[in-house]
Amino acid sequence: MSKQPIGIFDSGVGGTSIWKEIHKVLPQEDTIYLSDSIHAPYGPKGKERIIELCKKNTEYLLDKNCKLIVVACNTATTNAIDYLRSNFNVPFIGIEPAIKPAALQSKTKAVGILATKGTLSSALFHKTSGEFASDINVIEQVGEGIVPLIENGKLYSDEMKSLLKLYLQPMIDTNIDYLVLGCTHYPYLIPILLDLLPKGVKIIDSGEAVARQTKAVLKKNNLLSTKHTKSKNTFFTNGNLDVLQQLLGLGYDIDYLDF
Ligand code: DGL
Repeated sequence: MSKQPIGIFDSGVGGTSIWKEIHKVLPQEDTIYLSDSIHAPYGPKGKERIIELCKKNTEYLLDKNCKLIVVACNTATTNAIDYLRSNFNVPFIGIEPAIKPAALQSKTKAVGILATKGTLSSALFHKTSGEFASDINVIEQVGEGIVPLIENGKLYSDEMKSLLKLYLQPMIDTNIDYLVLGCTHYPYLIPILLDLLPKGVKIIDSGEAVARQTKAVLKKNNLLSTKHTKSKNTFFTNGNLDVLQQLLGLGYDIDYLDF
């Protein structure tokens, strides 16, 4: 059993959507969240650069004595998780777009996916999509510009609404019944997306599944915390503290990190 913290990183503030799910399932676990906002977005960067950034984030969290790392970023997972697993000696949990459940449940046989360029062009995404959605019309859309707007505190802006309208239209025209959110920043868009999508279109993301998997892997490795006191949750960002705080709400321990 381990009292060490769980380390979580993302290219920015979006991975807090995953942190929230993990904290719900594992409220007794200490966590350290690292928001590499200064390098966001990772999506348009090449695989080599993404690996380099993920390596740096992992080293930072391991220096803080983390027992397990959650890569709370689809772009980082689909491009760098193999590298991380072969180069560091702790368990890693990654996140991938939930294309499988969407494809299995779709009645219209048309599913939309909104993700970054880095995720949609990755070998891992192609493999999963080919395996589970070969008989489905998958409308892929790169969410260019969305992450920078969120990182700049413009979640509820006209700019965001216009971008999303543009990105959703081909999916609506194709009669999708599921929209897969393939980026951890995007769950924060759900209220806007629900407003723009036709009634009945369901939105899926992988947050809950990642939290369940985190618990299962901790258990399997005998790493679950035995603490009965309140957990300590620390957030570090090399970007804007206010944006991180707005997404988390008040009462969290957020520090600037020159990283
Ligand atoms: N949250 C990251 C993801 O899940 C955003 C990627 C980016 O920085 O472009 O893909």
